[in-house]
Amino acid sequence: MTGTKNEIEQPDLNEINASYAQSHEQHHNMAGFRAPKIDTVRVGIIGMGNRGPSHLRTLIQIENVEIRGLCDKNPAKIDETLNYLENTDHDPVLYSDGEWKKLCEQDDIDLVVVTTPFFMHAPMSIYAMTQGKHVATEVPAAGTMEECWEIVQTAEATQRHLMMLENYSYMPFQLRMINMARKGFFGEVVHGDGAYNTSKMKNNFGKTMYSDMWWLRQYANRRGNIYPTHGIGPICQCMDINRGDRLDYLVSVESNDFLMAKRANGLAEQDSHFAEFAGLEYRGNMNTTVLRTVEGRTIVLQHDATTPSPHNMIHGVYGTKGAALYDPAPPRIANGDHKWVDADEFAEIEERYTPEIFRKMGDLTKSSGHGGSDLLMDWHLIDCLRNGLPLDQDVYDAASWSAIVPLSQWSVLNRSNSIDIPDFTAGAWESNPKNMDIELENGGATTRITSKDESADDVLTKQWKANH
Ligand SMILES: NC(=O)c1ccc[n+]([C@@H]2O[C@H](COP(=O)([O-])OP(=O)(O)OC[C@H]3O[C@@H](n4cnc5c(N)ncnc54)[C@H](O)[C@@H]3O)[C@@H](O)[C@H]2O)c1
Repeated sequence: MTGTKNEIEQPDLNEINASYAQSHEQHHNMAGFRAPKIDTVRVGIIGMGNRGPSHLRTLIQIENVEIRGLCDKNPAKIDETLNYLENTDHDPVLYSDGEWKKLCEQDDIDLVVVTTPFFMHAPMSIYAMTQGKHVATEVPAAGTMEECWEIVQTAEATQRHLMMLENYSYMPFQLRMINMARKGFFGEVVHGDGAYNTSKMKNNFGKTMYSDMWWLRQYANRRGNIYPTHGIGPICQCMDINRGDRLDYLVSVESNDFLMAKRANGLAEQDSHFAEFAGLEYRGNMNTTVLRTVEGRTIVLQHDATTPSPHNMIHGVYGTKGAALYDPAPPRIANGDHKWVDADEFAEIEERYTPEIFRKMGDLTKSSGHGGSDLLMDWHLIDCLRNGLPLDQDVYDAASWSAIVPLSQWSVLNRSNSIDIPDFTAGAWESNPKNMDIELENGGATTRITSKDESADDVLTKQWKANH
């Protein structure tokens, strides 16, 4: 990398982890943590770009949610978002540049939703928890090793929930895969494959798609898998990671970049806006990270945001008795006799393993983003808070899945050597209870409400889609 404008400084993560692990004591086990019931959940959202308004639009469809605060450093984003609240009773306090801490301090907010660029998630989440708020943060929850430890330590010290909004576990096939794993369809789960392989070249080089073109800067300033949680989330749920097993170590291998630097240099010749992106080295086009768990399971995780290959999450689970594979479509299931089952048997297995959360809410939520997963996830988050139940993903999940960002970079920059994944649960993984109550054994009575003016809602949906 020498000679480029953006040489990467790689801290010694083994040293950082050893130092945290030595001083870390689990103050309070946040696995299975129940906070006091909150009948009406009062919400503040920081970051009104693409994802903030998307959560706002799902949250206002849920009973007993009040939007009390909105913050974006760009006032135009707040104005756009307010359109979605027309004809509703929501009347949030508005905050602009430099004011996100004020939103976290607002007394009548219970839950802060953090939807800013990912390297801001941890500082914002940590501050919100110290102000007594529960936090739901977009993915990944943290971008550095220190931040992974600090979200854990703050959640334990303040006894506030931090849930990372990893939505892909709530997609229809993935929910069934998790149910199949829990009910023993796969036998012992041996291996999982996951990916976030989808071309973001147009988005990342778009001048207005992301605020300050922050994703392109991340692809220049980091190496490794910088977007691991969609790929690994559902696989970890199938393997009971942090509750019966845990991630042990990883190795990460990365291709060169054959696309981004060329695109940046070419654009810079025609348009001075891209001058700062010329002459940089970028993250390799394909990152492959291999992880092993302490109970001897393996995971292969990929991230490719650049090649023009079709969108592919993979999401394969392979066990001693059966297997399932989501992508490339169509999804497939095998029941242990060396072939994928036919359409009739597939439908029968799908029906048999449909969890209650999907039976009850699947139809009502399917119009929301990411295969209906966005509304299903937000609905269950609110329902759990209202009933004082453990949330579907805890701070240990957020830390261990997000830790792949810094750890995979370390491995890539160290000739793909292996590196340990810290135990953020301080040993509690051996006895932690299962999370993600997909059979709705508790709660589940919160209803989905429709907007007061469904036709206006449709117009706004179309406008939003056209703009993004
Ligand atoms: N779960 C999913 O399916 C999914 C999908 C897309 C994005 N994401 C995640 O959501 C997050 C947001 O992505 P996005 O596409 O909405 O990005 P974006 O750039 O569109 O939105 C970020 C917003 O944060 C605002 N912001 C930046 N700094 C701020 C500050 N200091 N104070 C207040 N506001 C500030 C920006 O002005 C912008 O409006 C990312 O971390 C991304 O990884 C998740």
